[in-house]
Amino acid sequence: MSGTDVFFPPTEFAGSAHVGSLEAYRDLCRRAEEDPEGFWAGMAEQEVHWFEKWHHVFEWNPPFVKWFAGAKTNAAYNCVDRHLETRGDKAALLFEGEPGDRRTITYRELHSLVGRFANVLKAQGFKAGDRSVIYMPMVPEAVVAMLACARLGITHSVVFGGFSAEALKARIQDLEATLVLTADGGWRRGKEVRLKGAVDEAVADCPGVKCVVVLRRTGCEVTMAAGRDHWWHELEEGVSDECPAEALDAEHPLFVLYTSGTTGKPKGILHTTGGYLTYTTCTMKWVFDLKEDDVFWCTADIGWVTGHSYLVYGPLAAGATCVMYEGAPDYPAWDRWWDVVERYKATILYTSPTAIRALIKQGEEYPNRHDLSSLRLLGSVGEPINPAAWEWYHRVIGKGRCPIVDTWWQTETGGILISPMPGAVPLKPGSGTFAMPGILAEVVDFHGNPVAADGEGFLIVKRPWPSMIRTIWGDPQRFEQQYFSRMPGNYFTGDAARRDADGYFWILGRVDDVMNVSGHRLSTMEVESALVRHPAVAEAAVVGKPHEITGQAVCCFVTLKQGSGSNDHHALAQELRQWVAHEIGAFARPEEIRFSETLPKTRSGKIMRRLLREIVTSHTVTGDVTTLEDLGVVTKLAAQHDED
Ligand code: PRX
Repeated sequence: MSGTDVFFPPTEFAGSAHVGSLEAYRDLCRRAEEDPEGFWAGMAEQEVHWFEKWHHVFEWNPPFVKWFAGAKTNAAYNCVDRHLETRGDKAALLFEGEPGDRRTITYRELHSLVGRFANVLKAQGFKAGDRSVIYMPMVPEAVVAMLACARLGITHSVVFGGFSAEALKARIQDLEATLVLTADGGWRRGKEVRLKGAVDEAVADCPGVKCVVVLRRTGCEVTMAAGRDHWWHELEEGVSDECPAEALDAEHPLFVLYTSGTTGKPKGILHTTGGYLTYTTCTMKWVFDLKEDDVFWCTADIGWVTGHSYLVYGPLAAGATCVMYEGAPDYPAWDRWWDVVERYKATILYTSPTAIRALIKQGEEYPNRHDLSSLRLLGSVGEPINPAAWEWYHRVIGKGRCPIVDTWWQTETGGILISPMPGAVPLKPGSGTFAMPGILAEVVDFHGNPVAADGEGFLIVKRPWPSMIRTIWGDPQRFEQQYFSRMPGNYFTGDAARRDADGYFWILGRVDDVMNVSGHRLSTMEVESALVRHPAVAEAAVVGKPHEITGQAVCCFVTLKQGSGSNDHHALAQELRQWVAHEIGAFARPEEIRFSETLPKTRSGKIMRRLLREIVTSHTVTGDVTTLEDLGVVTKLAAQHDED
């Protein structure tokens, strides 16, 4: 095996793993490749409850696919009801609020919470086919909200609480949602994050919203619009917790999750029910080797796809006990996460390289204060994990005993596509290793031909899989153009990758104008559009700049309107940072704003982001600049760095 460091699965781990050898892994892959219909039908029968079985396992009319057509199922039934007999008293959620409030919610209790809230929504007149937006803190009611919608067939779209009122409004409008589920606020670093205020601002321009249900979490003062806004606890008074789950079509839209694309407009990624549940539960076993007594902690917010697939639907459908923590890792001190691991005896921890790097910076004494011996497996997601972060995670958190699963996937893929199976596959730090069974991933050149070993190319997937994106909400053309036009019939991921001589995948990053900040996708165009909405800004170009903690940071080049009257660049830079946070959300706040008289453009007027990327990365320009309208501008911009 090539590569410097290779970590083989520990014998004990492999001995009790669901998939305990390379041969067993390869056998699964062979079966899935030779007989996809038989393989996925078997998985669907084994992992998911169906009210009625399908006529066809899958129907593939590129770029559109249907999985388990004709079958009836329900995501909430799968996540809750079917566990009542065997796991009724098992903890489904171990919740810890940032202020220190704690709740254990068993599967039976979760069933009752979901049923009651579903009855509330029903009484308000909502039914299958309606759409809701969920804008909530990381509290159990957020999970209850998702599952209550799923129970009735209301398609939900969770909007991360860090998004601004503007971003929230755009999503409510695009989805034509009639229902908004929110809270007064949530806790973050000891401060209240007010959510209802943002909802009020957003909904003011959304006349289609008929009902806003507000959970009381922080107790802060909120304004309630008569007839439209209702307190969650008031609506629940005297309501029964018995609410039958709707038998929904396998292709019923379960949720839409907005993510950044290459344009200024976020795209609503649609996921449906049966295939999504099948794939997310399969990967709970394959990737996380989930066992009955595991305590699974995925640190992602429910506002991102990781929270959907591996905090809610995957683990609950698999009957797991999940830790859910509301707040920041550094509150009240940098050992909060390790305290949580110790308190709940978490056995599996799934987090992002950004979080790991931030924790490394604080020093080993924080994790070393706690007993982390319950951990048996670690996971990483969202961005490439650099060798130093991998080594620290492995040594300091996993004490050298725990395999690390580096999981590659996307909002569009619904579940993990490339990852080691920890009991089977030798690890190479920084590599996602191999594709899951049934995932025909390939690294290809511009013409779609596989590249030779160690060559770089585009990462594509050659066959549909059960949890893949079905379309972009309201825009099937953009869906086809974005994912299936480059190599018809194949799913184009937008990532570059390399495969080494042993067949290991190494993800190299995006090939489009999408940045990855703290493992969150952000489009350069989205930030540019926000900037040019500011009255002083004439033009803006945005690029990702390498950042020690967050992987990439937002760096903006801005030209000002003539006579904008602003000479105080320092103050204006601050204002623009704040502006972007207001337009998109605090996580998009630019790290750096550079003012410039012009921007480097091709003769056809396209901004040469490649050059700007080079400037912020290496502070020099080496590439081909023959198409530049104004060569001088590049030198000026590059020189500016040294002046700063
Ligand atoms: O570039 C890849 C990167 O994150 C992108 C997907 O972002 P998003 O849809 O927000 O989903 C993030 C969580 C699943 C991918 O196109 N990415 C994700 N996981 C990895 C990764 N890059 C390298 N290694 C990973 N493990």
